[in-house]
Amino acid sequence: MDENTIREFSQKIFHDLAGSMGSAMAYVGVKNGIFKIMKDQGEMTLELIVEKTGLNNRYLEEWLKGMVCTGYLKYHPERKTFELPEEHAFLLASDGTDHFMGGLFSAVPMMVGVAPKVADAFRNGGGVHFNEFGEEGVDAISLMNEGTYRQRLASYWMKSIPDIFQKLTEGCTTLDFGCGTGNVSMTLAEAFPRTTCYGIDLDLTSIQKAEQSAQNAGFKDKISFIHGNIETLEDQQFDLITILDCIHDLVDPVGILKSLKKMLRQGGSIFIVEPKAADKLEENINPIAGMYYGMSLFHCMTQSIAAGGPGLGTCMGPQKMEDLIKESGFSQFEILKIKSPVSLFYRVGI
Ligand SMILES: C[S@@+](CC[C@H](N)C(=O)[O-])C[C@H]1O[C@@H](n2cnc3c(N)ncnc32)[C@H](O)[C@@H]1O
Repeated sequence: MDENTIREFSQKIFHDLAGSMGSAMAYVGVKNGIFKIMKDQGEMTLELIVEKTGLNNRYLEEWLKGMVCTGYLKYHPERKTFELPEEHAFLLASDGTDHFMGGLFSAVPMMVGVAPKVADAFRNGGGVHFNEFGEEGVDAISLMNEGTYRQRLASYWMKSIPDIFQKLTEGCTTLDFGCGTGNVSMTLAEAFPRTTCYGIDLDLTSIQKAEQSAQNAGFKDKISFIHGNIETLEDQQFDLITILDCIHDLVDPVGILKSLKKMLRQGGSIFIVEPKAADKLEENINPIAGMYYGMSLFHCMTQSIAAGGPGLGTCMGPQKMEDLIKESGFSQFEILKIKSPVSLFYRVGI
């Protein structure tokens, strides 16, 4: 055994544990709006942060020190002040933008919280059902994806597929399958006033939140959110079906894709977004895939297995996607050349 390797690896373990704690502390910072309050403020004393946030002095003090040690905040010992650097604020205090990374932390407690149940599932089978993650789980998924969808879906992703963009502009009918809290349909309805949008999801909490958003935005006539399974919409036809961050979660992916195929109008397309992962494990050895494998174990894969599904997992990769598409009877499958560090994009047609 090499002693240096042991020493280096022990440092990595501390580094990872600090990362876990840092993520949970950052969750608290996002949840309590502390990063937003520290944004653009320069150096701040503890007392000033207490005053501006109205939060408990002792909790804040410990949190600030922890965030300094994990590299989120800067500390100025001469003046005992704390600072959120503007580059960090760009990622942590920028809700609603496509560069907001704070939403990722919202997934940490709900996912890590089920680790004991997942460990048990290794021995006894089963898993954690989607609804066991509760409202916090629904909100976390929404917060992770909302900014990106709002900023990129219409103006970048759809724009890069000119014929679909044209149909949306002229007015067509879309279905967002596994719509969650409705961010995709809300974005499309806003960007393409002539288009009519439908969203469907099995989860009632998600649909209720989606309906509320549509009502708040005055889109009740343009968007219909449906709670239920795909058979509810069997007789309808759509020009564009979107499936974002969803196929790898499904209990019956081929069955769903076959049903969606029947609902696609002649010349229509399915637009799919999935987490970015390579087919080979050796090409996935990076922090993003490491994060995705954790999300898979503690959410995506386990909720599929819990419901009797195959547990495709967050990192299923493009080859598996192509296999599913072909098995479902589609003849057109294209990996779209849309750039993203975290997502893969596909277009599917009959
Ligand atoms: C990871 S979430 C993604 C939500 C949303 N598409 C997004 O990108 O934010 C996956 C969603 O698929 C939904 N879902 C899973 N199986 C489904 C099914 N058979 N029919 C409808 N929705 C389903 C879940 O309830 C969940 O809201």
